[in-house]
Amino acid sequence: MLQRVHGYTVVEFESLTSTQDMAKNIRRANTVIVAKEQKNGRGRRGRTWESPFGGLWFTVILDNSCELVTLAAGVAVVKALERMGVQAGIKWPNDIIYGEKKLGGIIAESSGGLVYLGIGINLNNDIPESIRDIAVSVKDKNIVLEELLACILKELDSLVTGDSDRKFEILKQWKKYQIVFGRKVCVIDGELICGVVRDINSDGSLMVEVKGGELKKFYAGDVHIIQMGD
Ligand code: BTN
Repeated sequence: MLQRVHGYTVVEFESLTSTQDMAKNIRRANTVIVAKEQKNGRGRRGRTWESPFGGLWFTVILDNSCELVTLAAGVAVVKALERMGVQAGIKWPNDIIYGEKKLGGIIAESSGGLVYLGIGINLNNDIPESIRDIAVSVKDKNIVLEELLACILKELDSLVTGDSDRKFEILKQWKKYQIVFGRKVCVIDGELICGVVRDINSDGSLMVEVKGGELKKFYAGDVHIIQMGD
């Protein structure tokens, strides 16, 4: 099925290997590829992304004119979830966390002047047994998938289009929803470095204060919060 939603052309598929693959075949900005299930969903850093029926699995194709677009995607997702009554947070760079478990994730891949923003949310699906200790769905909230998708696209559109101040708006909103500042974390990016998260820079990098007070800057990596709930 094909429809227009907030300036995006949305194309729906019953089943795909990955919406990222289909999006890269289509290669048209402002197109959204949705699949009811993915047979070979991909996460960040080469990981598998479990994508059974009931979840919201989609890729937004954008031209690469907006800086911090992956942070904007995280903000759009948590703002849309908030509108549906779910208070989720963002763990840098863009893990969607609910009740200390992963509710969703975002992958950004660029090629040919386009950005492929892959967004996965465990919405109405069951979580596979193997990842139940780290992942959560909001199946009990009875959120209508199409409504959440439309709401995310509306929020994303308002963040990525507009004047040059939008980068500051993205950062401001990201700071509002982030759950890492002041937390003790370990960042895995080749090596393992632990410290306390102090800030995010205007280029989206994370500032972590390590032992001795030195500030380390991260442009990529997995953040593990080792001190939750304060
Ligand atoms: C992460 O590792 O946190 C990112 C997960 C991204 C999953 C989504 S689901 C839709 C799109 N298609 C994929 O194969 N991956 C992304």
